[in-house]
Amino acid sequence: PEAITIQELANRMAERAVDVIKLLMKQGQMLKINDVIDADTAEIIAEEMGHRVKRVSEADVEMGLMGDEDAPDDMVSRAPVVTVMGHVDHGKTSLLDAIRKADVVTGEAGGITQHIGAYQVETPGGTVTFVDTPGHEAFTAMRARGAKVTDLVVLVVAADDGVMPQTVEAINHARAAEVPIIVAINKIDKPDADPQRVRTELLQHEIVVESMGGDTLEVEVSAAKRTNLDKLLDAILLQSEILELKANPDRPADGVVVEAQLDKGRGPVATVLIQRGTLNVGDIFVAGSAWGRVRALINDRGSNVDSAGPSVPVEVLGLHSTPEAGDQFVVVDAEQRAREITDYRERKRRELKGAPSSARASLEQMMSQ
Ligand code: GTP
Ligand code: MG
Repeated sequence: PEAITIQELANRMAERAVDVIKLLMKQGQMLKINDVIDADTAEIIAEEMGHRVKRVSEADVEMGLMGDEDAPDDMVSRAPVVTVMGHVDHGKTSLLDAIRKADVVTGEAGGITQHIGAYQVETPGGTVTFVDTPGHEAFTAMRARGAKVTDLVVLVVAADDGVMPQTVEAINHARAAEVPIIVAINKIDKPDADPQRVRTELLQHEIVVESMGGDTLEVEVSAAKRTNLDKLLDAILLQSEILELKANPDRPADGVVVEAQLDKGRGPVATVLIQRGTLNVGDIFVAGSAWGRVRALINDRGSNVDSAGPSVPVEVLGLHSTPEAGDQFVVVDAEQRAREITDYRERKRRELKGAPSSARASLEQMMSQ
């Protein structure tokens, strides 16, 4: 449970904000309509006003997005978001590079312009968004914060090495996130490649690939020789069709920070992946305890764009501080609201830090409910 403005709380209860303020005043709190109260206070108020309280997830309450479901009619197909995972040196980066080079658009433009943590590939069968999380840590951080970034995991297993500890870790991550896996058996060009061994070893981890009668798609590839990259993309597109991925592009954006850093020339730069809605230059953006008015949006080809819709990765410029990878972001309608949310979070963060460990534990428990 986190925070909600008085206005938002009143709206949800279909009560007048002034009545909420009066009630708070009786309890000794002098607050204004746009002030933020924590979820516990909100719950007490709601109950006093005779409403039944249903708490949604922490992030939802905090963002004031509770019950903010999009109507089915507004949902439009979006590109799948794919994370490539696997053991060290099994060829994740090589595979992503090879796929990116196969992209007709960058191919025409003369190669890769810059590295960003996420990018899109146009294929004849549709667009695919790849998230290039360095190692598993970022993925774990995002998952720990409840950000469901990825729709699919491509599990890269080198055919000359087989299933290794980080392969198993990646399988566990994908399972915990309840995300389907596509197996890319890589390095099949190598003389000592043994794809069949990979399949058998995967069985021990309850991954049964299609050719063994299971339902996990598998593709034998070589990043080095660029073998079967089209088949891998086909498998990704096939799997995503089954998922029927959709989002409403016609609403204020929300999504997740994939990576962020303080750039010498440009200031704080956050690479974000839009999950719903459309992010525009000029929008008021809040992520973690960072906020700012979007000054520029830069796409994965290094071009300035005015806006970005669902499943599109973009760099966001104009923030006052640097958010963290895994932070959920949202667009709000006023700077005042952005300040309140970030101030509140800063305060909560300090409280957590300052609290004695037992209190901290219970606070953390409370916050993770
Ligand atoms: P980390 O990011 O360090 O975990 O590694 P990675 O999984 O990204 O592997 P990377 O793409 O860096 O490749 C590791 C090594 O394997 C490099 O030397 C690649 O050239 C080589 N390699 C990758 N794919 C293939 C392949 O299909 N065939 C052959 N022969 N070598 C490959
Ligand atoms: Mg790599």
